[in-house]
Amino acid sequence: MKQQLKIQIDNNEEFQEIIKELITNETVQQMKNYRQHYETTCFEHCYIAAYYCYIICKKYNLDYRSATRAAMLHDLFLYDWRIKNSRKGFHAFTHGKLACKNASELFDLNEKEKDIITKHMWPVTISFPKSIEGFILTFVDKYCAMSESLEVMKSRLFMKKAFRYVYLCLSLFIIKV
Ligand SMILES: [Fe+2]
Ligand SMILES: [Fe+2]
Repeated sequence: MKQQLKIQIDNNEEFQEIIKELITNETVQQMKNYRQHYETTCFEHCYIAAYYCYIICKKYNLDYRSATRAAMLHDLFLYDWRIKNSRKGFHAFTHGKLACKNASELFDLNEKEKDIITKHMWPVTISFPKSIEGFILTFVDKYCAMSESLEVMKSRLFMKKAFRYVYLCLSLFIIKV
């Protein structure tokens, strides 16, 4: 996560107040042990998605509390989705329901929050979210996934270029010697 964004999120008092009950929970804290996209943990991914949902929904006078809470819990599963033996079914189709079940066992969620979590993988999963807040999370989630992946790809490309440059300099140095 970019440092500037982290500071902005950490210092937003209302946002922190909304998610406090959720992020202080031990199971939610364990999301820090599982990677979601490349270097980003499940916790960090949900934390950023929750913040974007909060900003967008608040701006458009929507139910930003439910949207923020649901976004913070939308990927609440404690397994590495890259390892097939650690779960049943195809992750992309099943984890919305599983996250909703896990979250409902820990917190008192309203019907809108449950629906937002369960259907956040739309359109991969066919059923539409019932609320506009649910649709907002589907887009925010995809945006976050893309930027988390792009960030790593850019740094890998930079490293490749840097290595090529060092290799070229060394070759020129050896030729001269
Ligand atoms: Fe997800
Ligand atoms: Fe997600």
